[in-house]
Amino acid sequence: MPNFFILIIFICFNMHANIISPIPQSMPTDEKKVALGKLLFNDTRLSVDNTISCASCHLLNEGGDDNKSVSTGVNGLKGELNSPTVFNSVFNFKQFWDGRADNLKEQALGPILNPIEMGNNFDTLIVKLEKTEYLNIFNNIYLDGITQDNIVDAISEYEKTLITPNSDFDMYLKGDTNAITQVQKEGYAIFKEKGCISCHHGINIGANLYSKLGVIIDPSISHLGMTNKDKEEKFKVPSLRNVAKTAPYLHNGSIKTLNETVKTISLYQLGRELKDDEIYKIVKFLESLNGKIKEERK
Ligand code: HEC
Ligand code: HEC
Repeated sequence: MPNFFILIIFICFNMHANIISPIPQSMPTDEKKVALGKLLFNDTRLSVDNTISCASCHLLNEGGDDNKSVSTGVNGLKGELNSPTVFNSVFNFKQFWDGRADNLKEQALGPILNPIEMGNNFDTLIVKLEKTEYLNIFNNIYLDGITQDNIVDAISEYEKTLITPNSDFDMYLKGDTNAITQVQKEGYAIFKEKGCISCHHGINIGANLYSKLGVIIDPSISHLGMTNKDKEEKFKVPSLRNVAKTAPYLHNGSIKTLNETVKTISLYQLGRELKDDEIYKIVKFLESLNGKIKEERK
C-alpha cells in the first residue's frame, strides 16, 4: 500500500515537472521603486564612460536582447556570450547562462562591474549619482539613500514588470482552444513526444534546470564555436518564451535561425534527427510563445 502512494506521488511530481504554466498578468511591485529602476535601467551614466546602459544590450522593443551573437560593452569590448532576454527573467531559477547569480539583485551587480560591459565600480558610481537628480529620488524611497544594494534593488523591482503574459500559447493553456493553430497544436505534441519538454518546462519553458550542450551526441570542438570550456559547462536551459524574437541562438549566438537551432538541439540533446515538417511545426509552436510587453497590454 505505501508503495502505491509513493508511485502516485512520483507520477504527480513528474507530471508537474513536465507542465508549462502561463505567465501571470502582473507581479506585486513597489511602484516608486519600479519607476526608479526604469530610469536606472535606461541610464548610460551607470557605465564608466556614460556610453552603455542595461537597455543597450537588452532592447525592450526587440525581444529583450540585442540580436547580436555576442554583446558589445564599454570601449567597444566584446564578450563571449549571447545576451539573453530580460523578459520574464524574474521567473528564472538562477540568472546568467551558468546560473552563477541566485536572483535579479545579485545579477544586476554583474554588468555594472564587468570590465567589458559597463566597467564601473560602486564607489565611483554612487559619488557620480549623488551629484544628480537621483539623490532626491533615492532619499524619498530609501532611508539610507544611494547605496549599492538600493541601486540593484530598484533595478530588480523594475525587472519584475518586464514580463510577457497573454501569448497565444498561454491563452490556449487557459482554455481558449482556438488561440493557437492546428499546426501549432501538432508542434506542441511533437515537442512533448520527442522529449523537448523534459528540459524546457515550467513557467519559462526552461530556466529551471542545468544541462550541458551535447547530452546524447557531443558536438565536436569548433563546431558551433564550441570550446573545451563550453564542453564542460553546465548551462541553464534557456527559456523558450519569446524565442522567435531573440535570434541568434545558443550561449554564443552561433546559430542564426530558429529552424537550424531546433534541428541541431534535437540531434545533440535527444539524439533525434527531426524531419523538415516536424521542425516546421515545432517552430510554429515556438512562435506561439511570443507574449505581450506592458505597452502592448494597455
Ligand atoms: C554589454 C552588454 C550588456 C549590458 C550592458 C547588460 N547586460 Fe545583461 N546580459 C548580457 C549578457 C551577455 C548576459 C549573459 C552573461 C552570462 O551569462 O554570463 C546578460 C545576462 C543578463 C540577465 C540574466 C538573464 C538570464 O536568462 O540568465 C539579466 C536579468 C540581465 N542581463 C539584466 C541586465 C541589467 C539589469 C543590466 C544593467 C545593470 C544589464 N543586464 C546590462 C549583456 C549585457
Ligand atoms: C537535455 C536537455 C534539453 C533537451 C531535451 C532540449 N533542450 Fe533545448 N536547450 C537545452 C540547452 C542546455 C540549451 C542551450 C545550449 C547552448 O546555448 O549551448 C538549449 C537551447 C535551445 C534553444 C535555443 C534558445 C536560445 O535562446 O538560444 C531552442 C530554440 C531549444 N533549445 C529548443 C529545443 C527543442 C525544440 C527541443 C526538442 C527537439 C529541445 N530544445 C530539447 C537543453 C535541452
